[in-house]
Amino acid sequence: MNLRQLFLSHVAQTSPAPLALEIVKAEGCTLWDADGNTYTDLIGGISVANVGHRHPAVLEAVRTQLDAYLHVMVYGEFVQSPQVRYAQRLVSLLPPSLNSVYFTNSGAEAVEGALKLAKRVTGRTGIIAFQNSYHGSTQGALSIIGDEYWRRSFRPLLPGVRHYTYNDPAMLERITEDTACVVAETVQAEAGVLPPDAAWLQALRARCTETGTLLILDEIQAGFGRTGTLWGFEHYGIVPDVLLLGKALGGGMPLGAFIASKELMDAFTDAPVLGHISTFGGHPVCSAAGLAALEALLAEDMIGTVGRKADRFRSGLQHPRILSLSGIGLWMAARFASFEECKRVIDRCIAGGVLSDWFLFAADCLRISPPLNISDAEIDAACAVIRGALDAD
Ligand SMILES: Cc1ncc(COP(=O)(O)O)c(C=O)c1O
Repeated sequence: MNLRQLFLSHVAQTSPAPLALEIVKAEGCTLWDADGNTYTDLIGGISVANVGHRHPAVLEAVRTQLDAYLHVMVYGEFVQSPQVRYAQRLVSLLPPSLNSVYFTNSGAEAVEGALKLAKRVTGRTGIIAFQNSYHGSTQGALSIIGDEYWRRSFRPLLPGVRHYTYNDPAMLERITEDTACVVAETVQAEAGVLPPDAAWLQALRARCTETGTLLILDEIQAGFGRTGTLWGFEHYGIVPDVLLLGKALGGGMPLGAFIASKELMDAFTDAPVLGHISTFGGHPVCSAAGLAALEALLAEDMIGTVGRKADRFRSGLQHPRILSLSGIGLWMAARFASFEECKRVIDRCIAGGVLSDWFLFAADCLRISPPLNISDAEIDAACAVIRGALDAD
């Protein structure tokens, strides 16, 4: 059997028709397959590769940490310098109230930890989330996913969860003294990169404060410069009680985090002690990689180029069959008339050397979410391939 057949036989499958591209190398914004074809990566591992694939500084940090130690003890017991340095750096770039970092292995685990923290500190059980939101596949995260299609087969899930319409001012009054937390994506990713109305997000913040409800913002896709600012919430003049990070946080290695005030986070030390624990959370190699990626993002001012590059995509993607181009920063959804048309375009793009996909809750939209250090030439070439795919009919 060749590798593709082995993949289909022995690696658990999650769809009847996986892309099954055999990638043998990735560098910057380019992927290579086993047949020697190259692809410009407009997916970026779903907003993971913000500093590009195999950034030299990330590789160097990983090598250095490999020479020191890999895993030595469960999260939270030993002073492990990569974790401590990364937590310190993250906190230095966040508002003062977000000063305690709990590292996890994934985004979904960050969601789980944050939901537990909200229940523990408020003593309440109500959870509010939003339609068309995606927060992960574990049972707590699944409970708050905003689409019954994905939840239905796995019930019973967490009790007390209510879903409302994102950006709808009428939902604010549903937040009460029984609500432990509201979990919102700062920008709804899988809905097709849907930013919030600033006034609504500010009113949501105010209503949470008024009712003693924790506002948890999921920036697992939105963080690390994707929207044009380091953190998505910076656009809206508000600060969450808990910030969820993942994806680009690890610079290509698995890492997630939920970040809150030390005062809130200290609840995990008591009643029960070890209120949230993890063997591998904040793995030293992943933390070292993540810190190096963050420093590269800032030192190379990749975020400063996001607006200009987004404009370049916008002008390169003018086409009568692109019905809209929603999004924020270097993060866009090009909408077509149907899923079938979107799928045709994606297939042709892949054949033409451009990798993209659609969104979970917006299957008629093409994902534009490349590494932030994509070059102007790569943008122009990718847009030409997309336009060519549309003109091929
Ligand atoms: C907005 C958002 N939250 C949470 C998650 C879950 O992260 P993970 O897949 O690392 O568990 C994802 C993953 O796609 C996501 O996009």
